This record gives sequence, C-alpha cells and structure tokens, in this order.
Amino acid sequence: MAFTYFFRDLQTLELICDHVIPDLLLKPAIEIWDAGCATGPEPYTLAMLLRDRMDSRQFKNVMIQATDIDGSDLFDKIIFEAEYPREQVQRIPAEIFEKYFIKIENKDYYRLTDEIRGAVTFQKHDLRTMNSIGREFGLILCKNVLLHFNEAERIDVIGMFYDSLMAGGYLAMEQTQKLPAEFKELFEPVVSNAQIYRKNE
Ligand SMILES: C[S@@+](CC[C@H](N)C(=O)[O-])C[C@H]1O[C@@H](n2cnc3c(N)ncnc32)[C@H](O)[C@@H]1O
Repeated sequence: MAFTYFFRDLQTLELICDHVIPDLLLKPAIEIWDAGCATGPEPYTLAMLLRDRMDSRQFKNVMIQATDIDGSDLFDKIIFEAEYPREQVQRIPAEIFEKYFIKIENKDYYRLTDEIRGAVTFQKHDLRTMNSIGREFGLILCKNVLLHFNEAERIDVIGMFYDSLMAGGYLAMEQTQKLPAEFKELFEPVVSNAQIYRKNE
C-alpha cells in the first residue's frame, strides 16, 4: 500500500540532515536512491531539506532517483507534476512550505517549485528483481517497504543496496527495520537512535 506523507519520521530525517548531508556536501555530486518512494512526498521532503542546507549552485548537483513498483501506474505522473492537495501539505513546517510550494489557481492544490521538482526523477522498479539502478549512490533511503518482504528477500535487497553504494555511502531505513546480522561487518551504525548506516570503506 502506498501510504506516505511529507516529513514522515522526522527523527530519522533530522538525523540524516545532521549526520549524512554534511558528508555528502563534500562530494562533487550527490546521488540518492529513494527505493519505494510511493507518490513522492518522501523524495520531495528530502529535496527540500537538502535545498535548505545548500546554495543553488550546490543543489544543482543533487539527483534523487525515486523508484517504486507502482502497481497503480500513476506515480510517474503524480511525481512529475508534483501537485498535492491541501490536506497532504498542511502539516509541512510553515517556513518550508512557504519557500517551496506555489498555490495552483482555482484549485485547492499546491505545486512544488521547479527547482525542487527538477531534483527528483521517477522510474518504475521492482526491488524483488534484485537489480540495482546504479552503482555509486551516496545515500539510499528505503523506508516502510522491506517490512513486506521475507527475511531472505530482505537480506538480498540490502546486499544489492550495499553493492549500489559508493564506499562510505549511507543506507537509511525506518526505525523498526533492523540491519540483519549478516551485514554487521559491512556497515557501521551512524547513530544509536535510528536505522542509518555507513558502508565501510
Ligand atoms: C508504505 S509505502 C512507503 C512510502 C515511503 N517510503 C514512506 O516511508 O513514506 C510502501 C511502498 O513500497 C512500494 N513497494 C512494495 N513492494 C515493492 C517492490 N517489490 N519494489 C518496489 N517498491 C515496492 C509500494 O508500492 C509502496 O509505494
């Protein structure tokens, strides 16, 4: 089910901002894979948080590849248009909302600015194929997806994420998604109060 909302799991997002983004800012390009992105609030939240911490020149180097199995076949259009109804945007912190959303005339919808939209691309992708979409990601975010997979599938997907990260890249999952014991030597926990890991160099 594609349940999602803007600024979901603020604790993990803030920890990503404090512990991951400063490191990613040192790289020439910031490539992020949001796996299981649903209709877009998660990758767009990340884009807004990044833009808030960067100048426009740095932000041009941000590429968020959002993927989802997308059984409805609607996510591509929704994410491309980046227009969300009032009830989906009303909990966004006011100072962020005012900067990055524009009211659509004659409609109770709000559109993300072109700069934020431009940082996110979408493609359909099934994690169960175990095929990666790239090799040198600085951050892979996969939240509230793997809980639907069995243990063997989870291990295979996390192994595929490992291969898809650059050395020193980061993997973030939801609070309840613990890293399987098989990966203890391959990743280091970044914090004690969220599931954020750094790939060992
Ligand atoms: C609960 S939503 C999570 C959305 C977002 N990550 C969040 O935390 O708000 C789970 C998403 O996982 C997607 N999903 C389920 N199985 C998948 C698979 N095999 N490959 C890719 N995406 C999948 C669903 O389509 C859905 O959009």
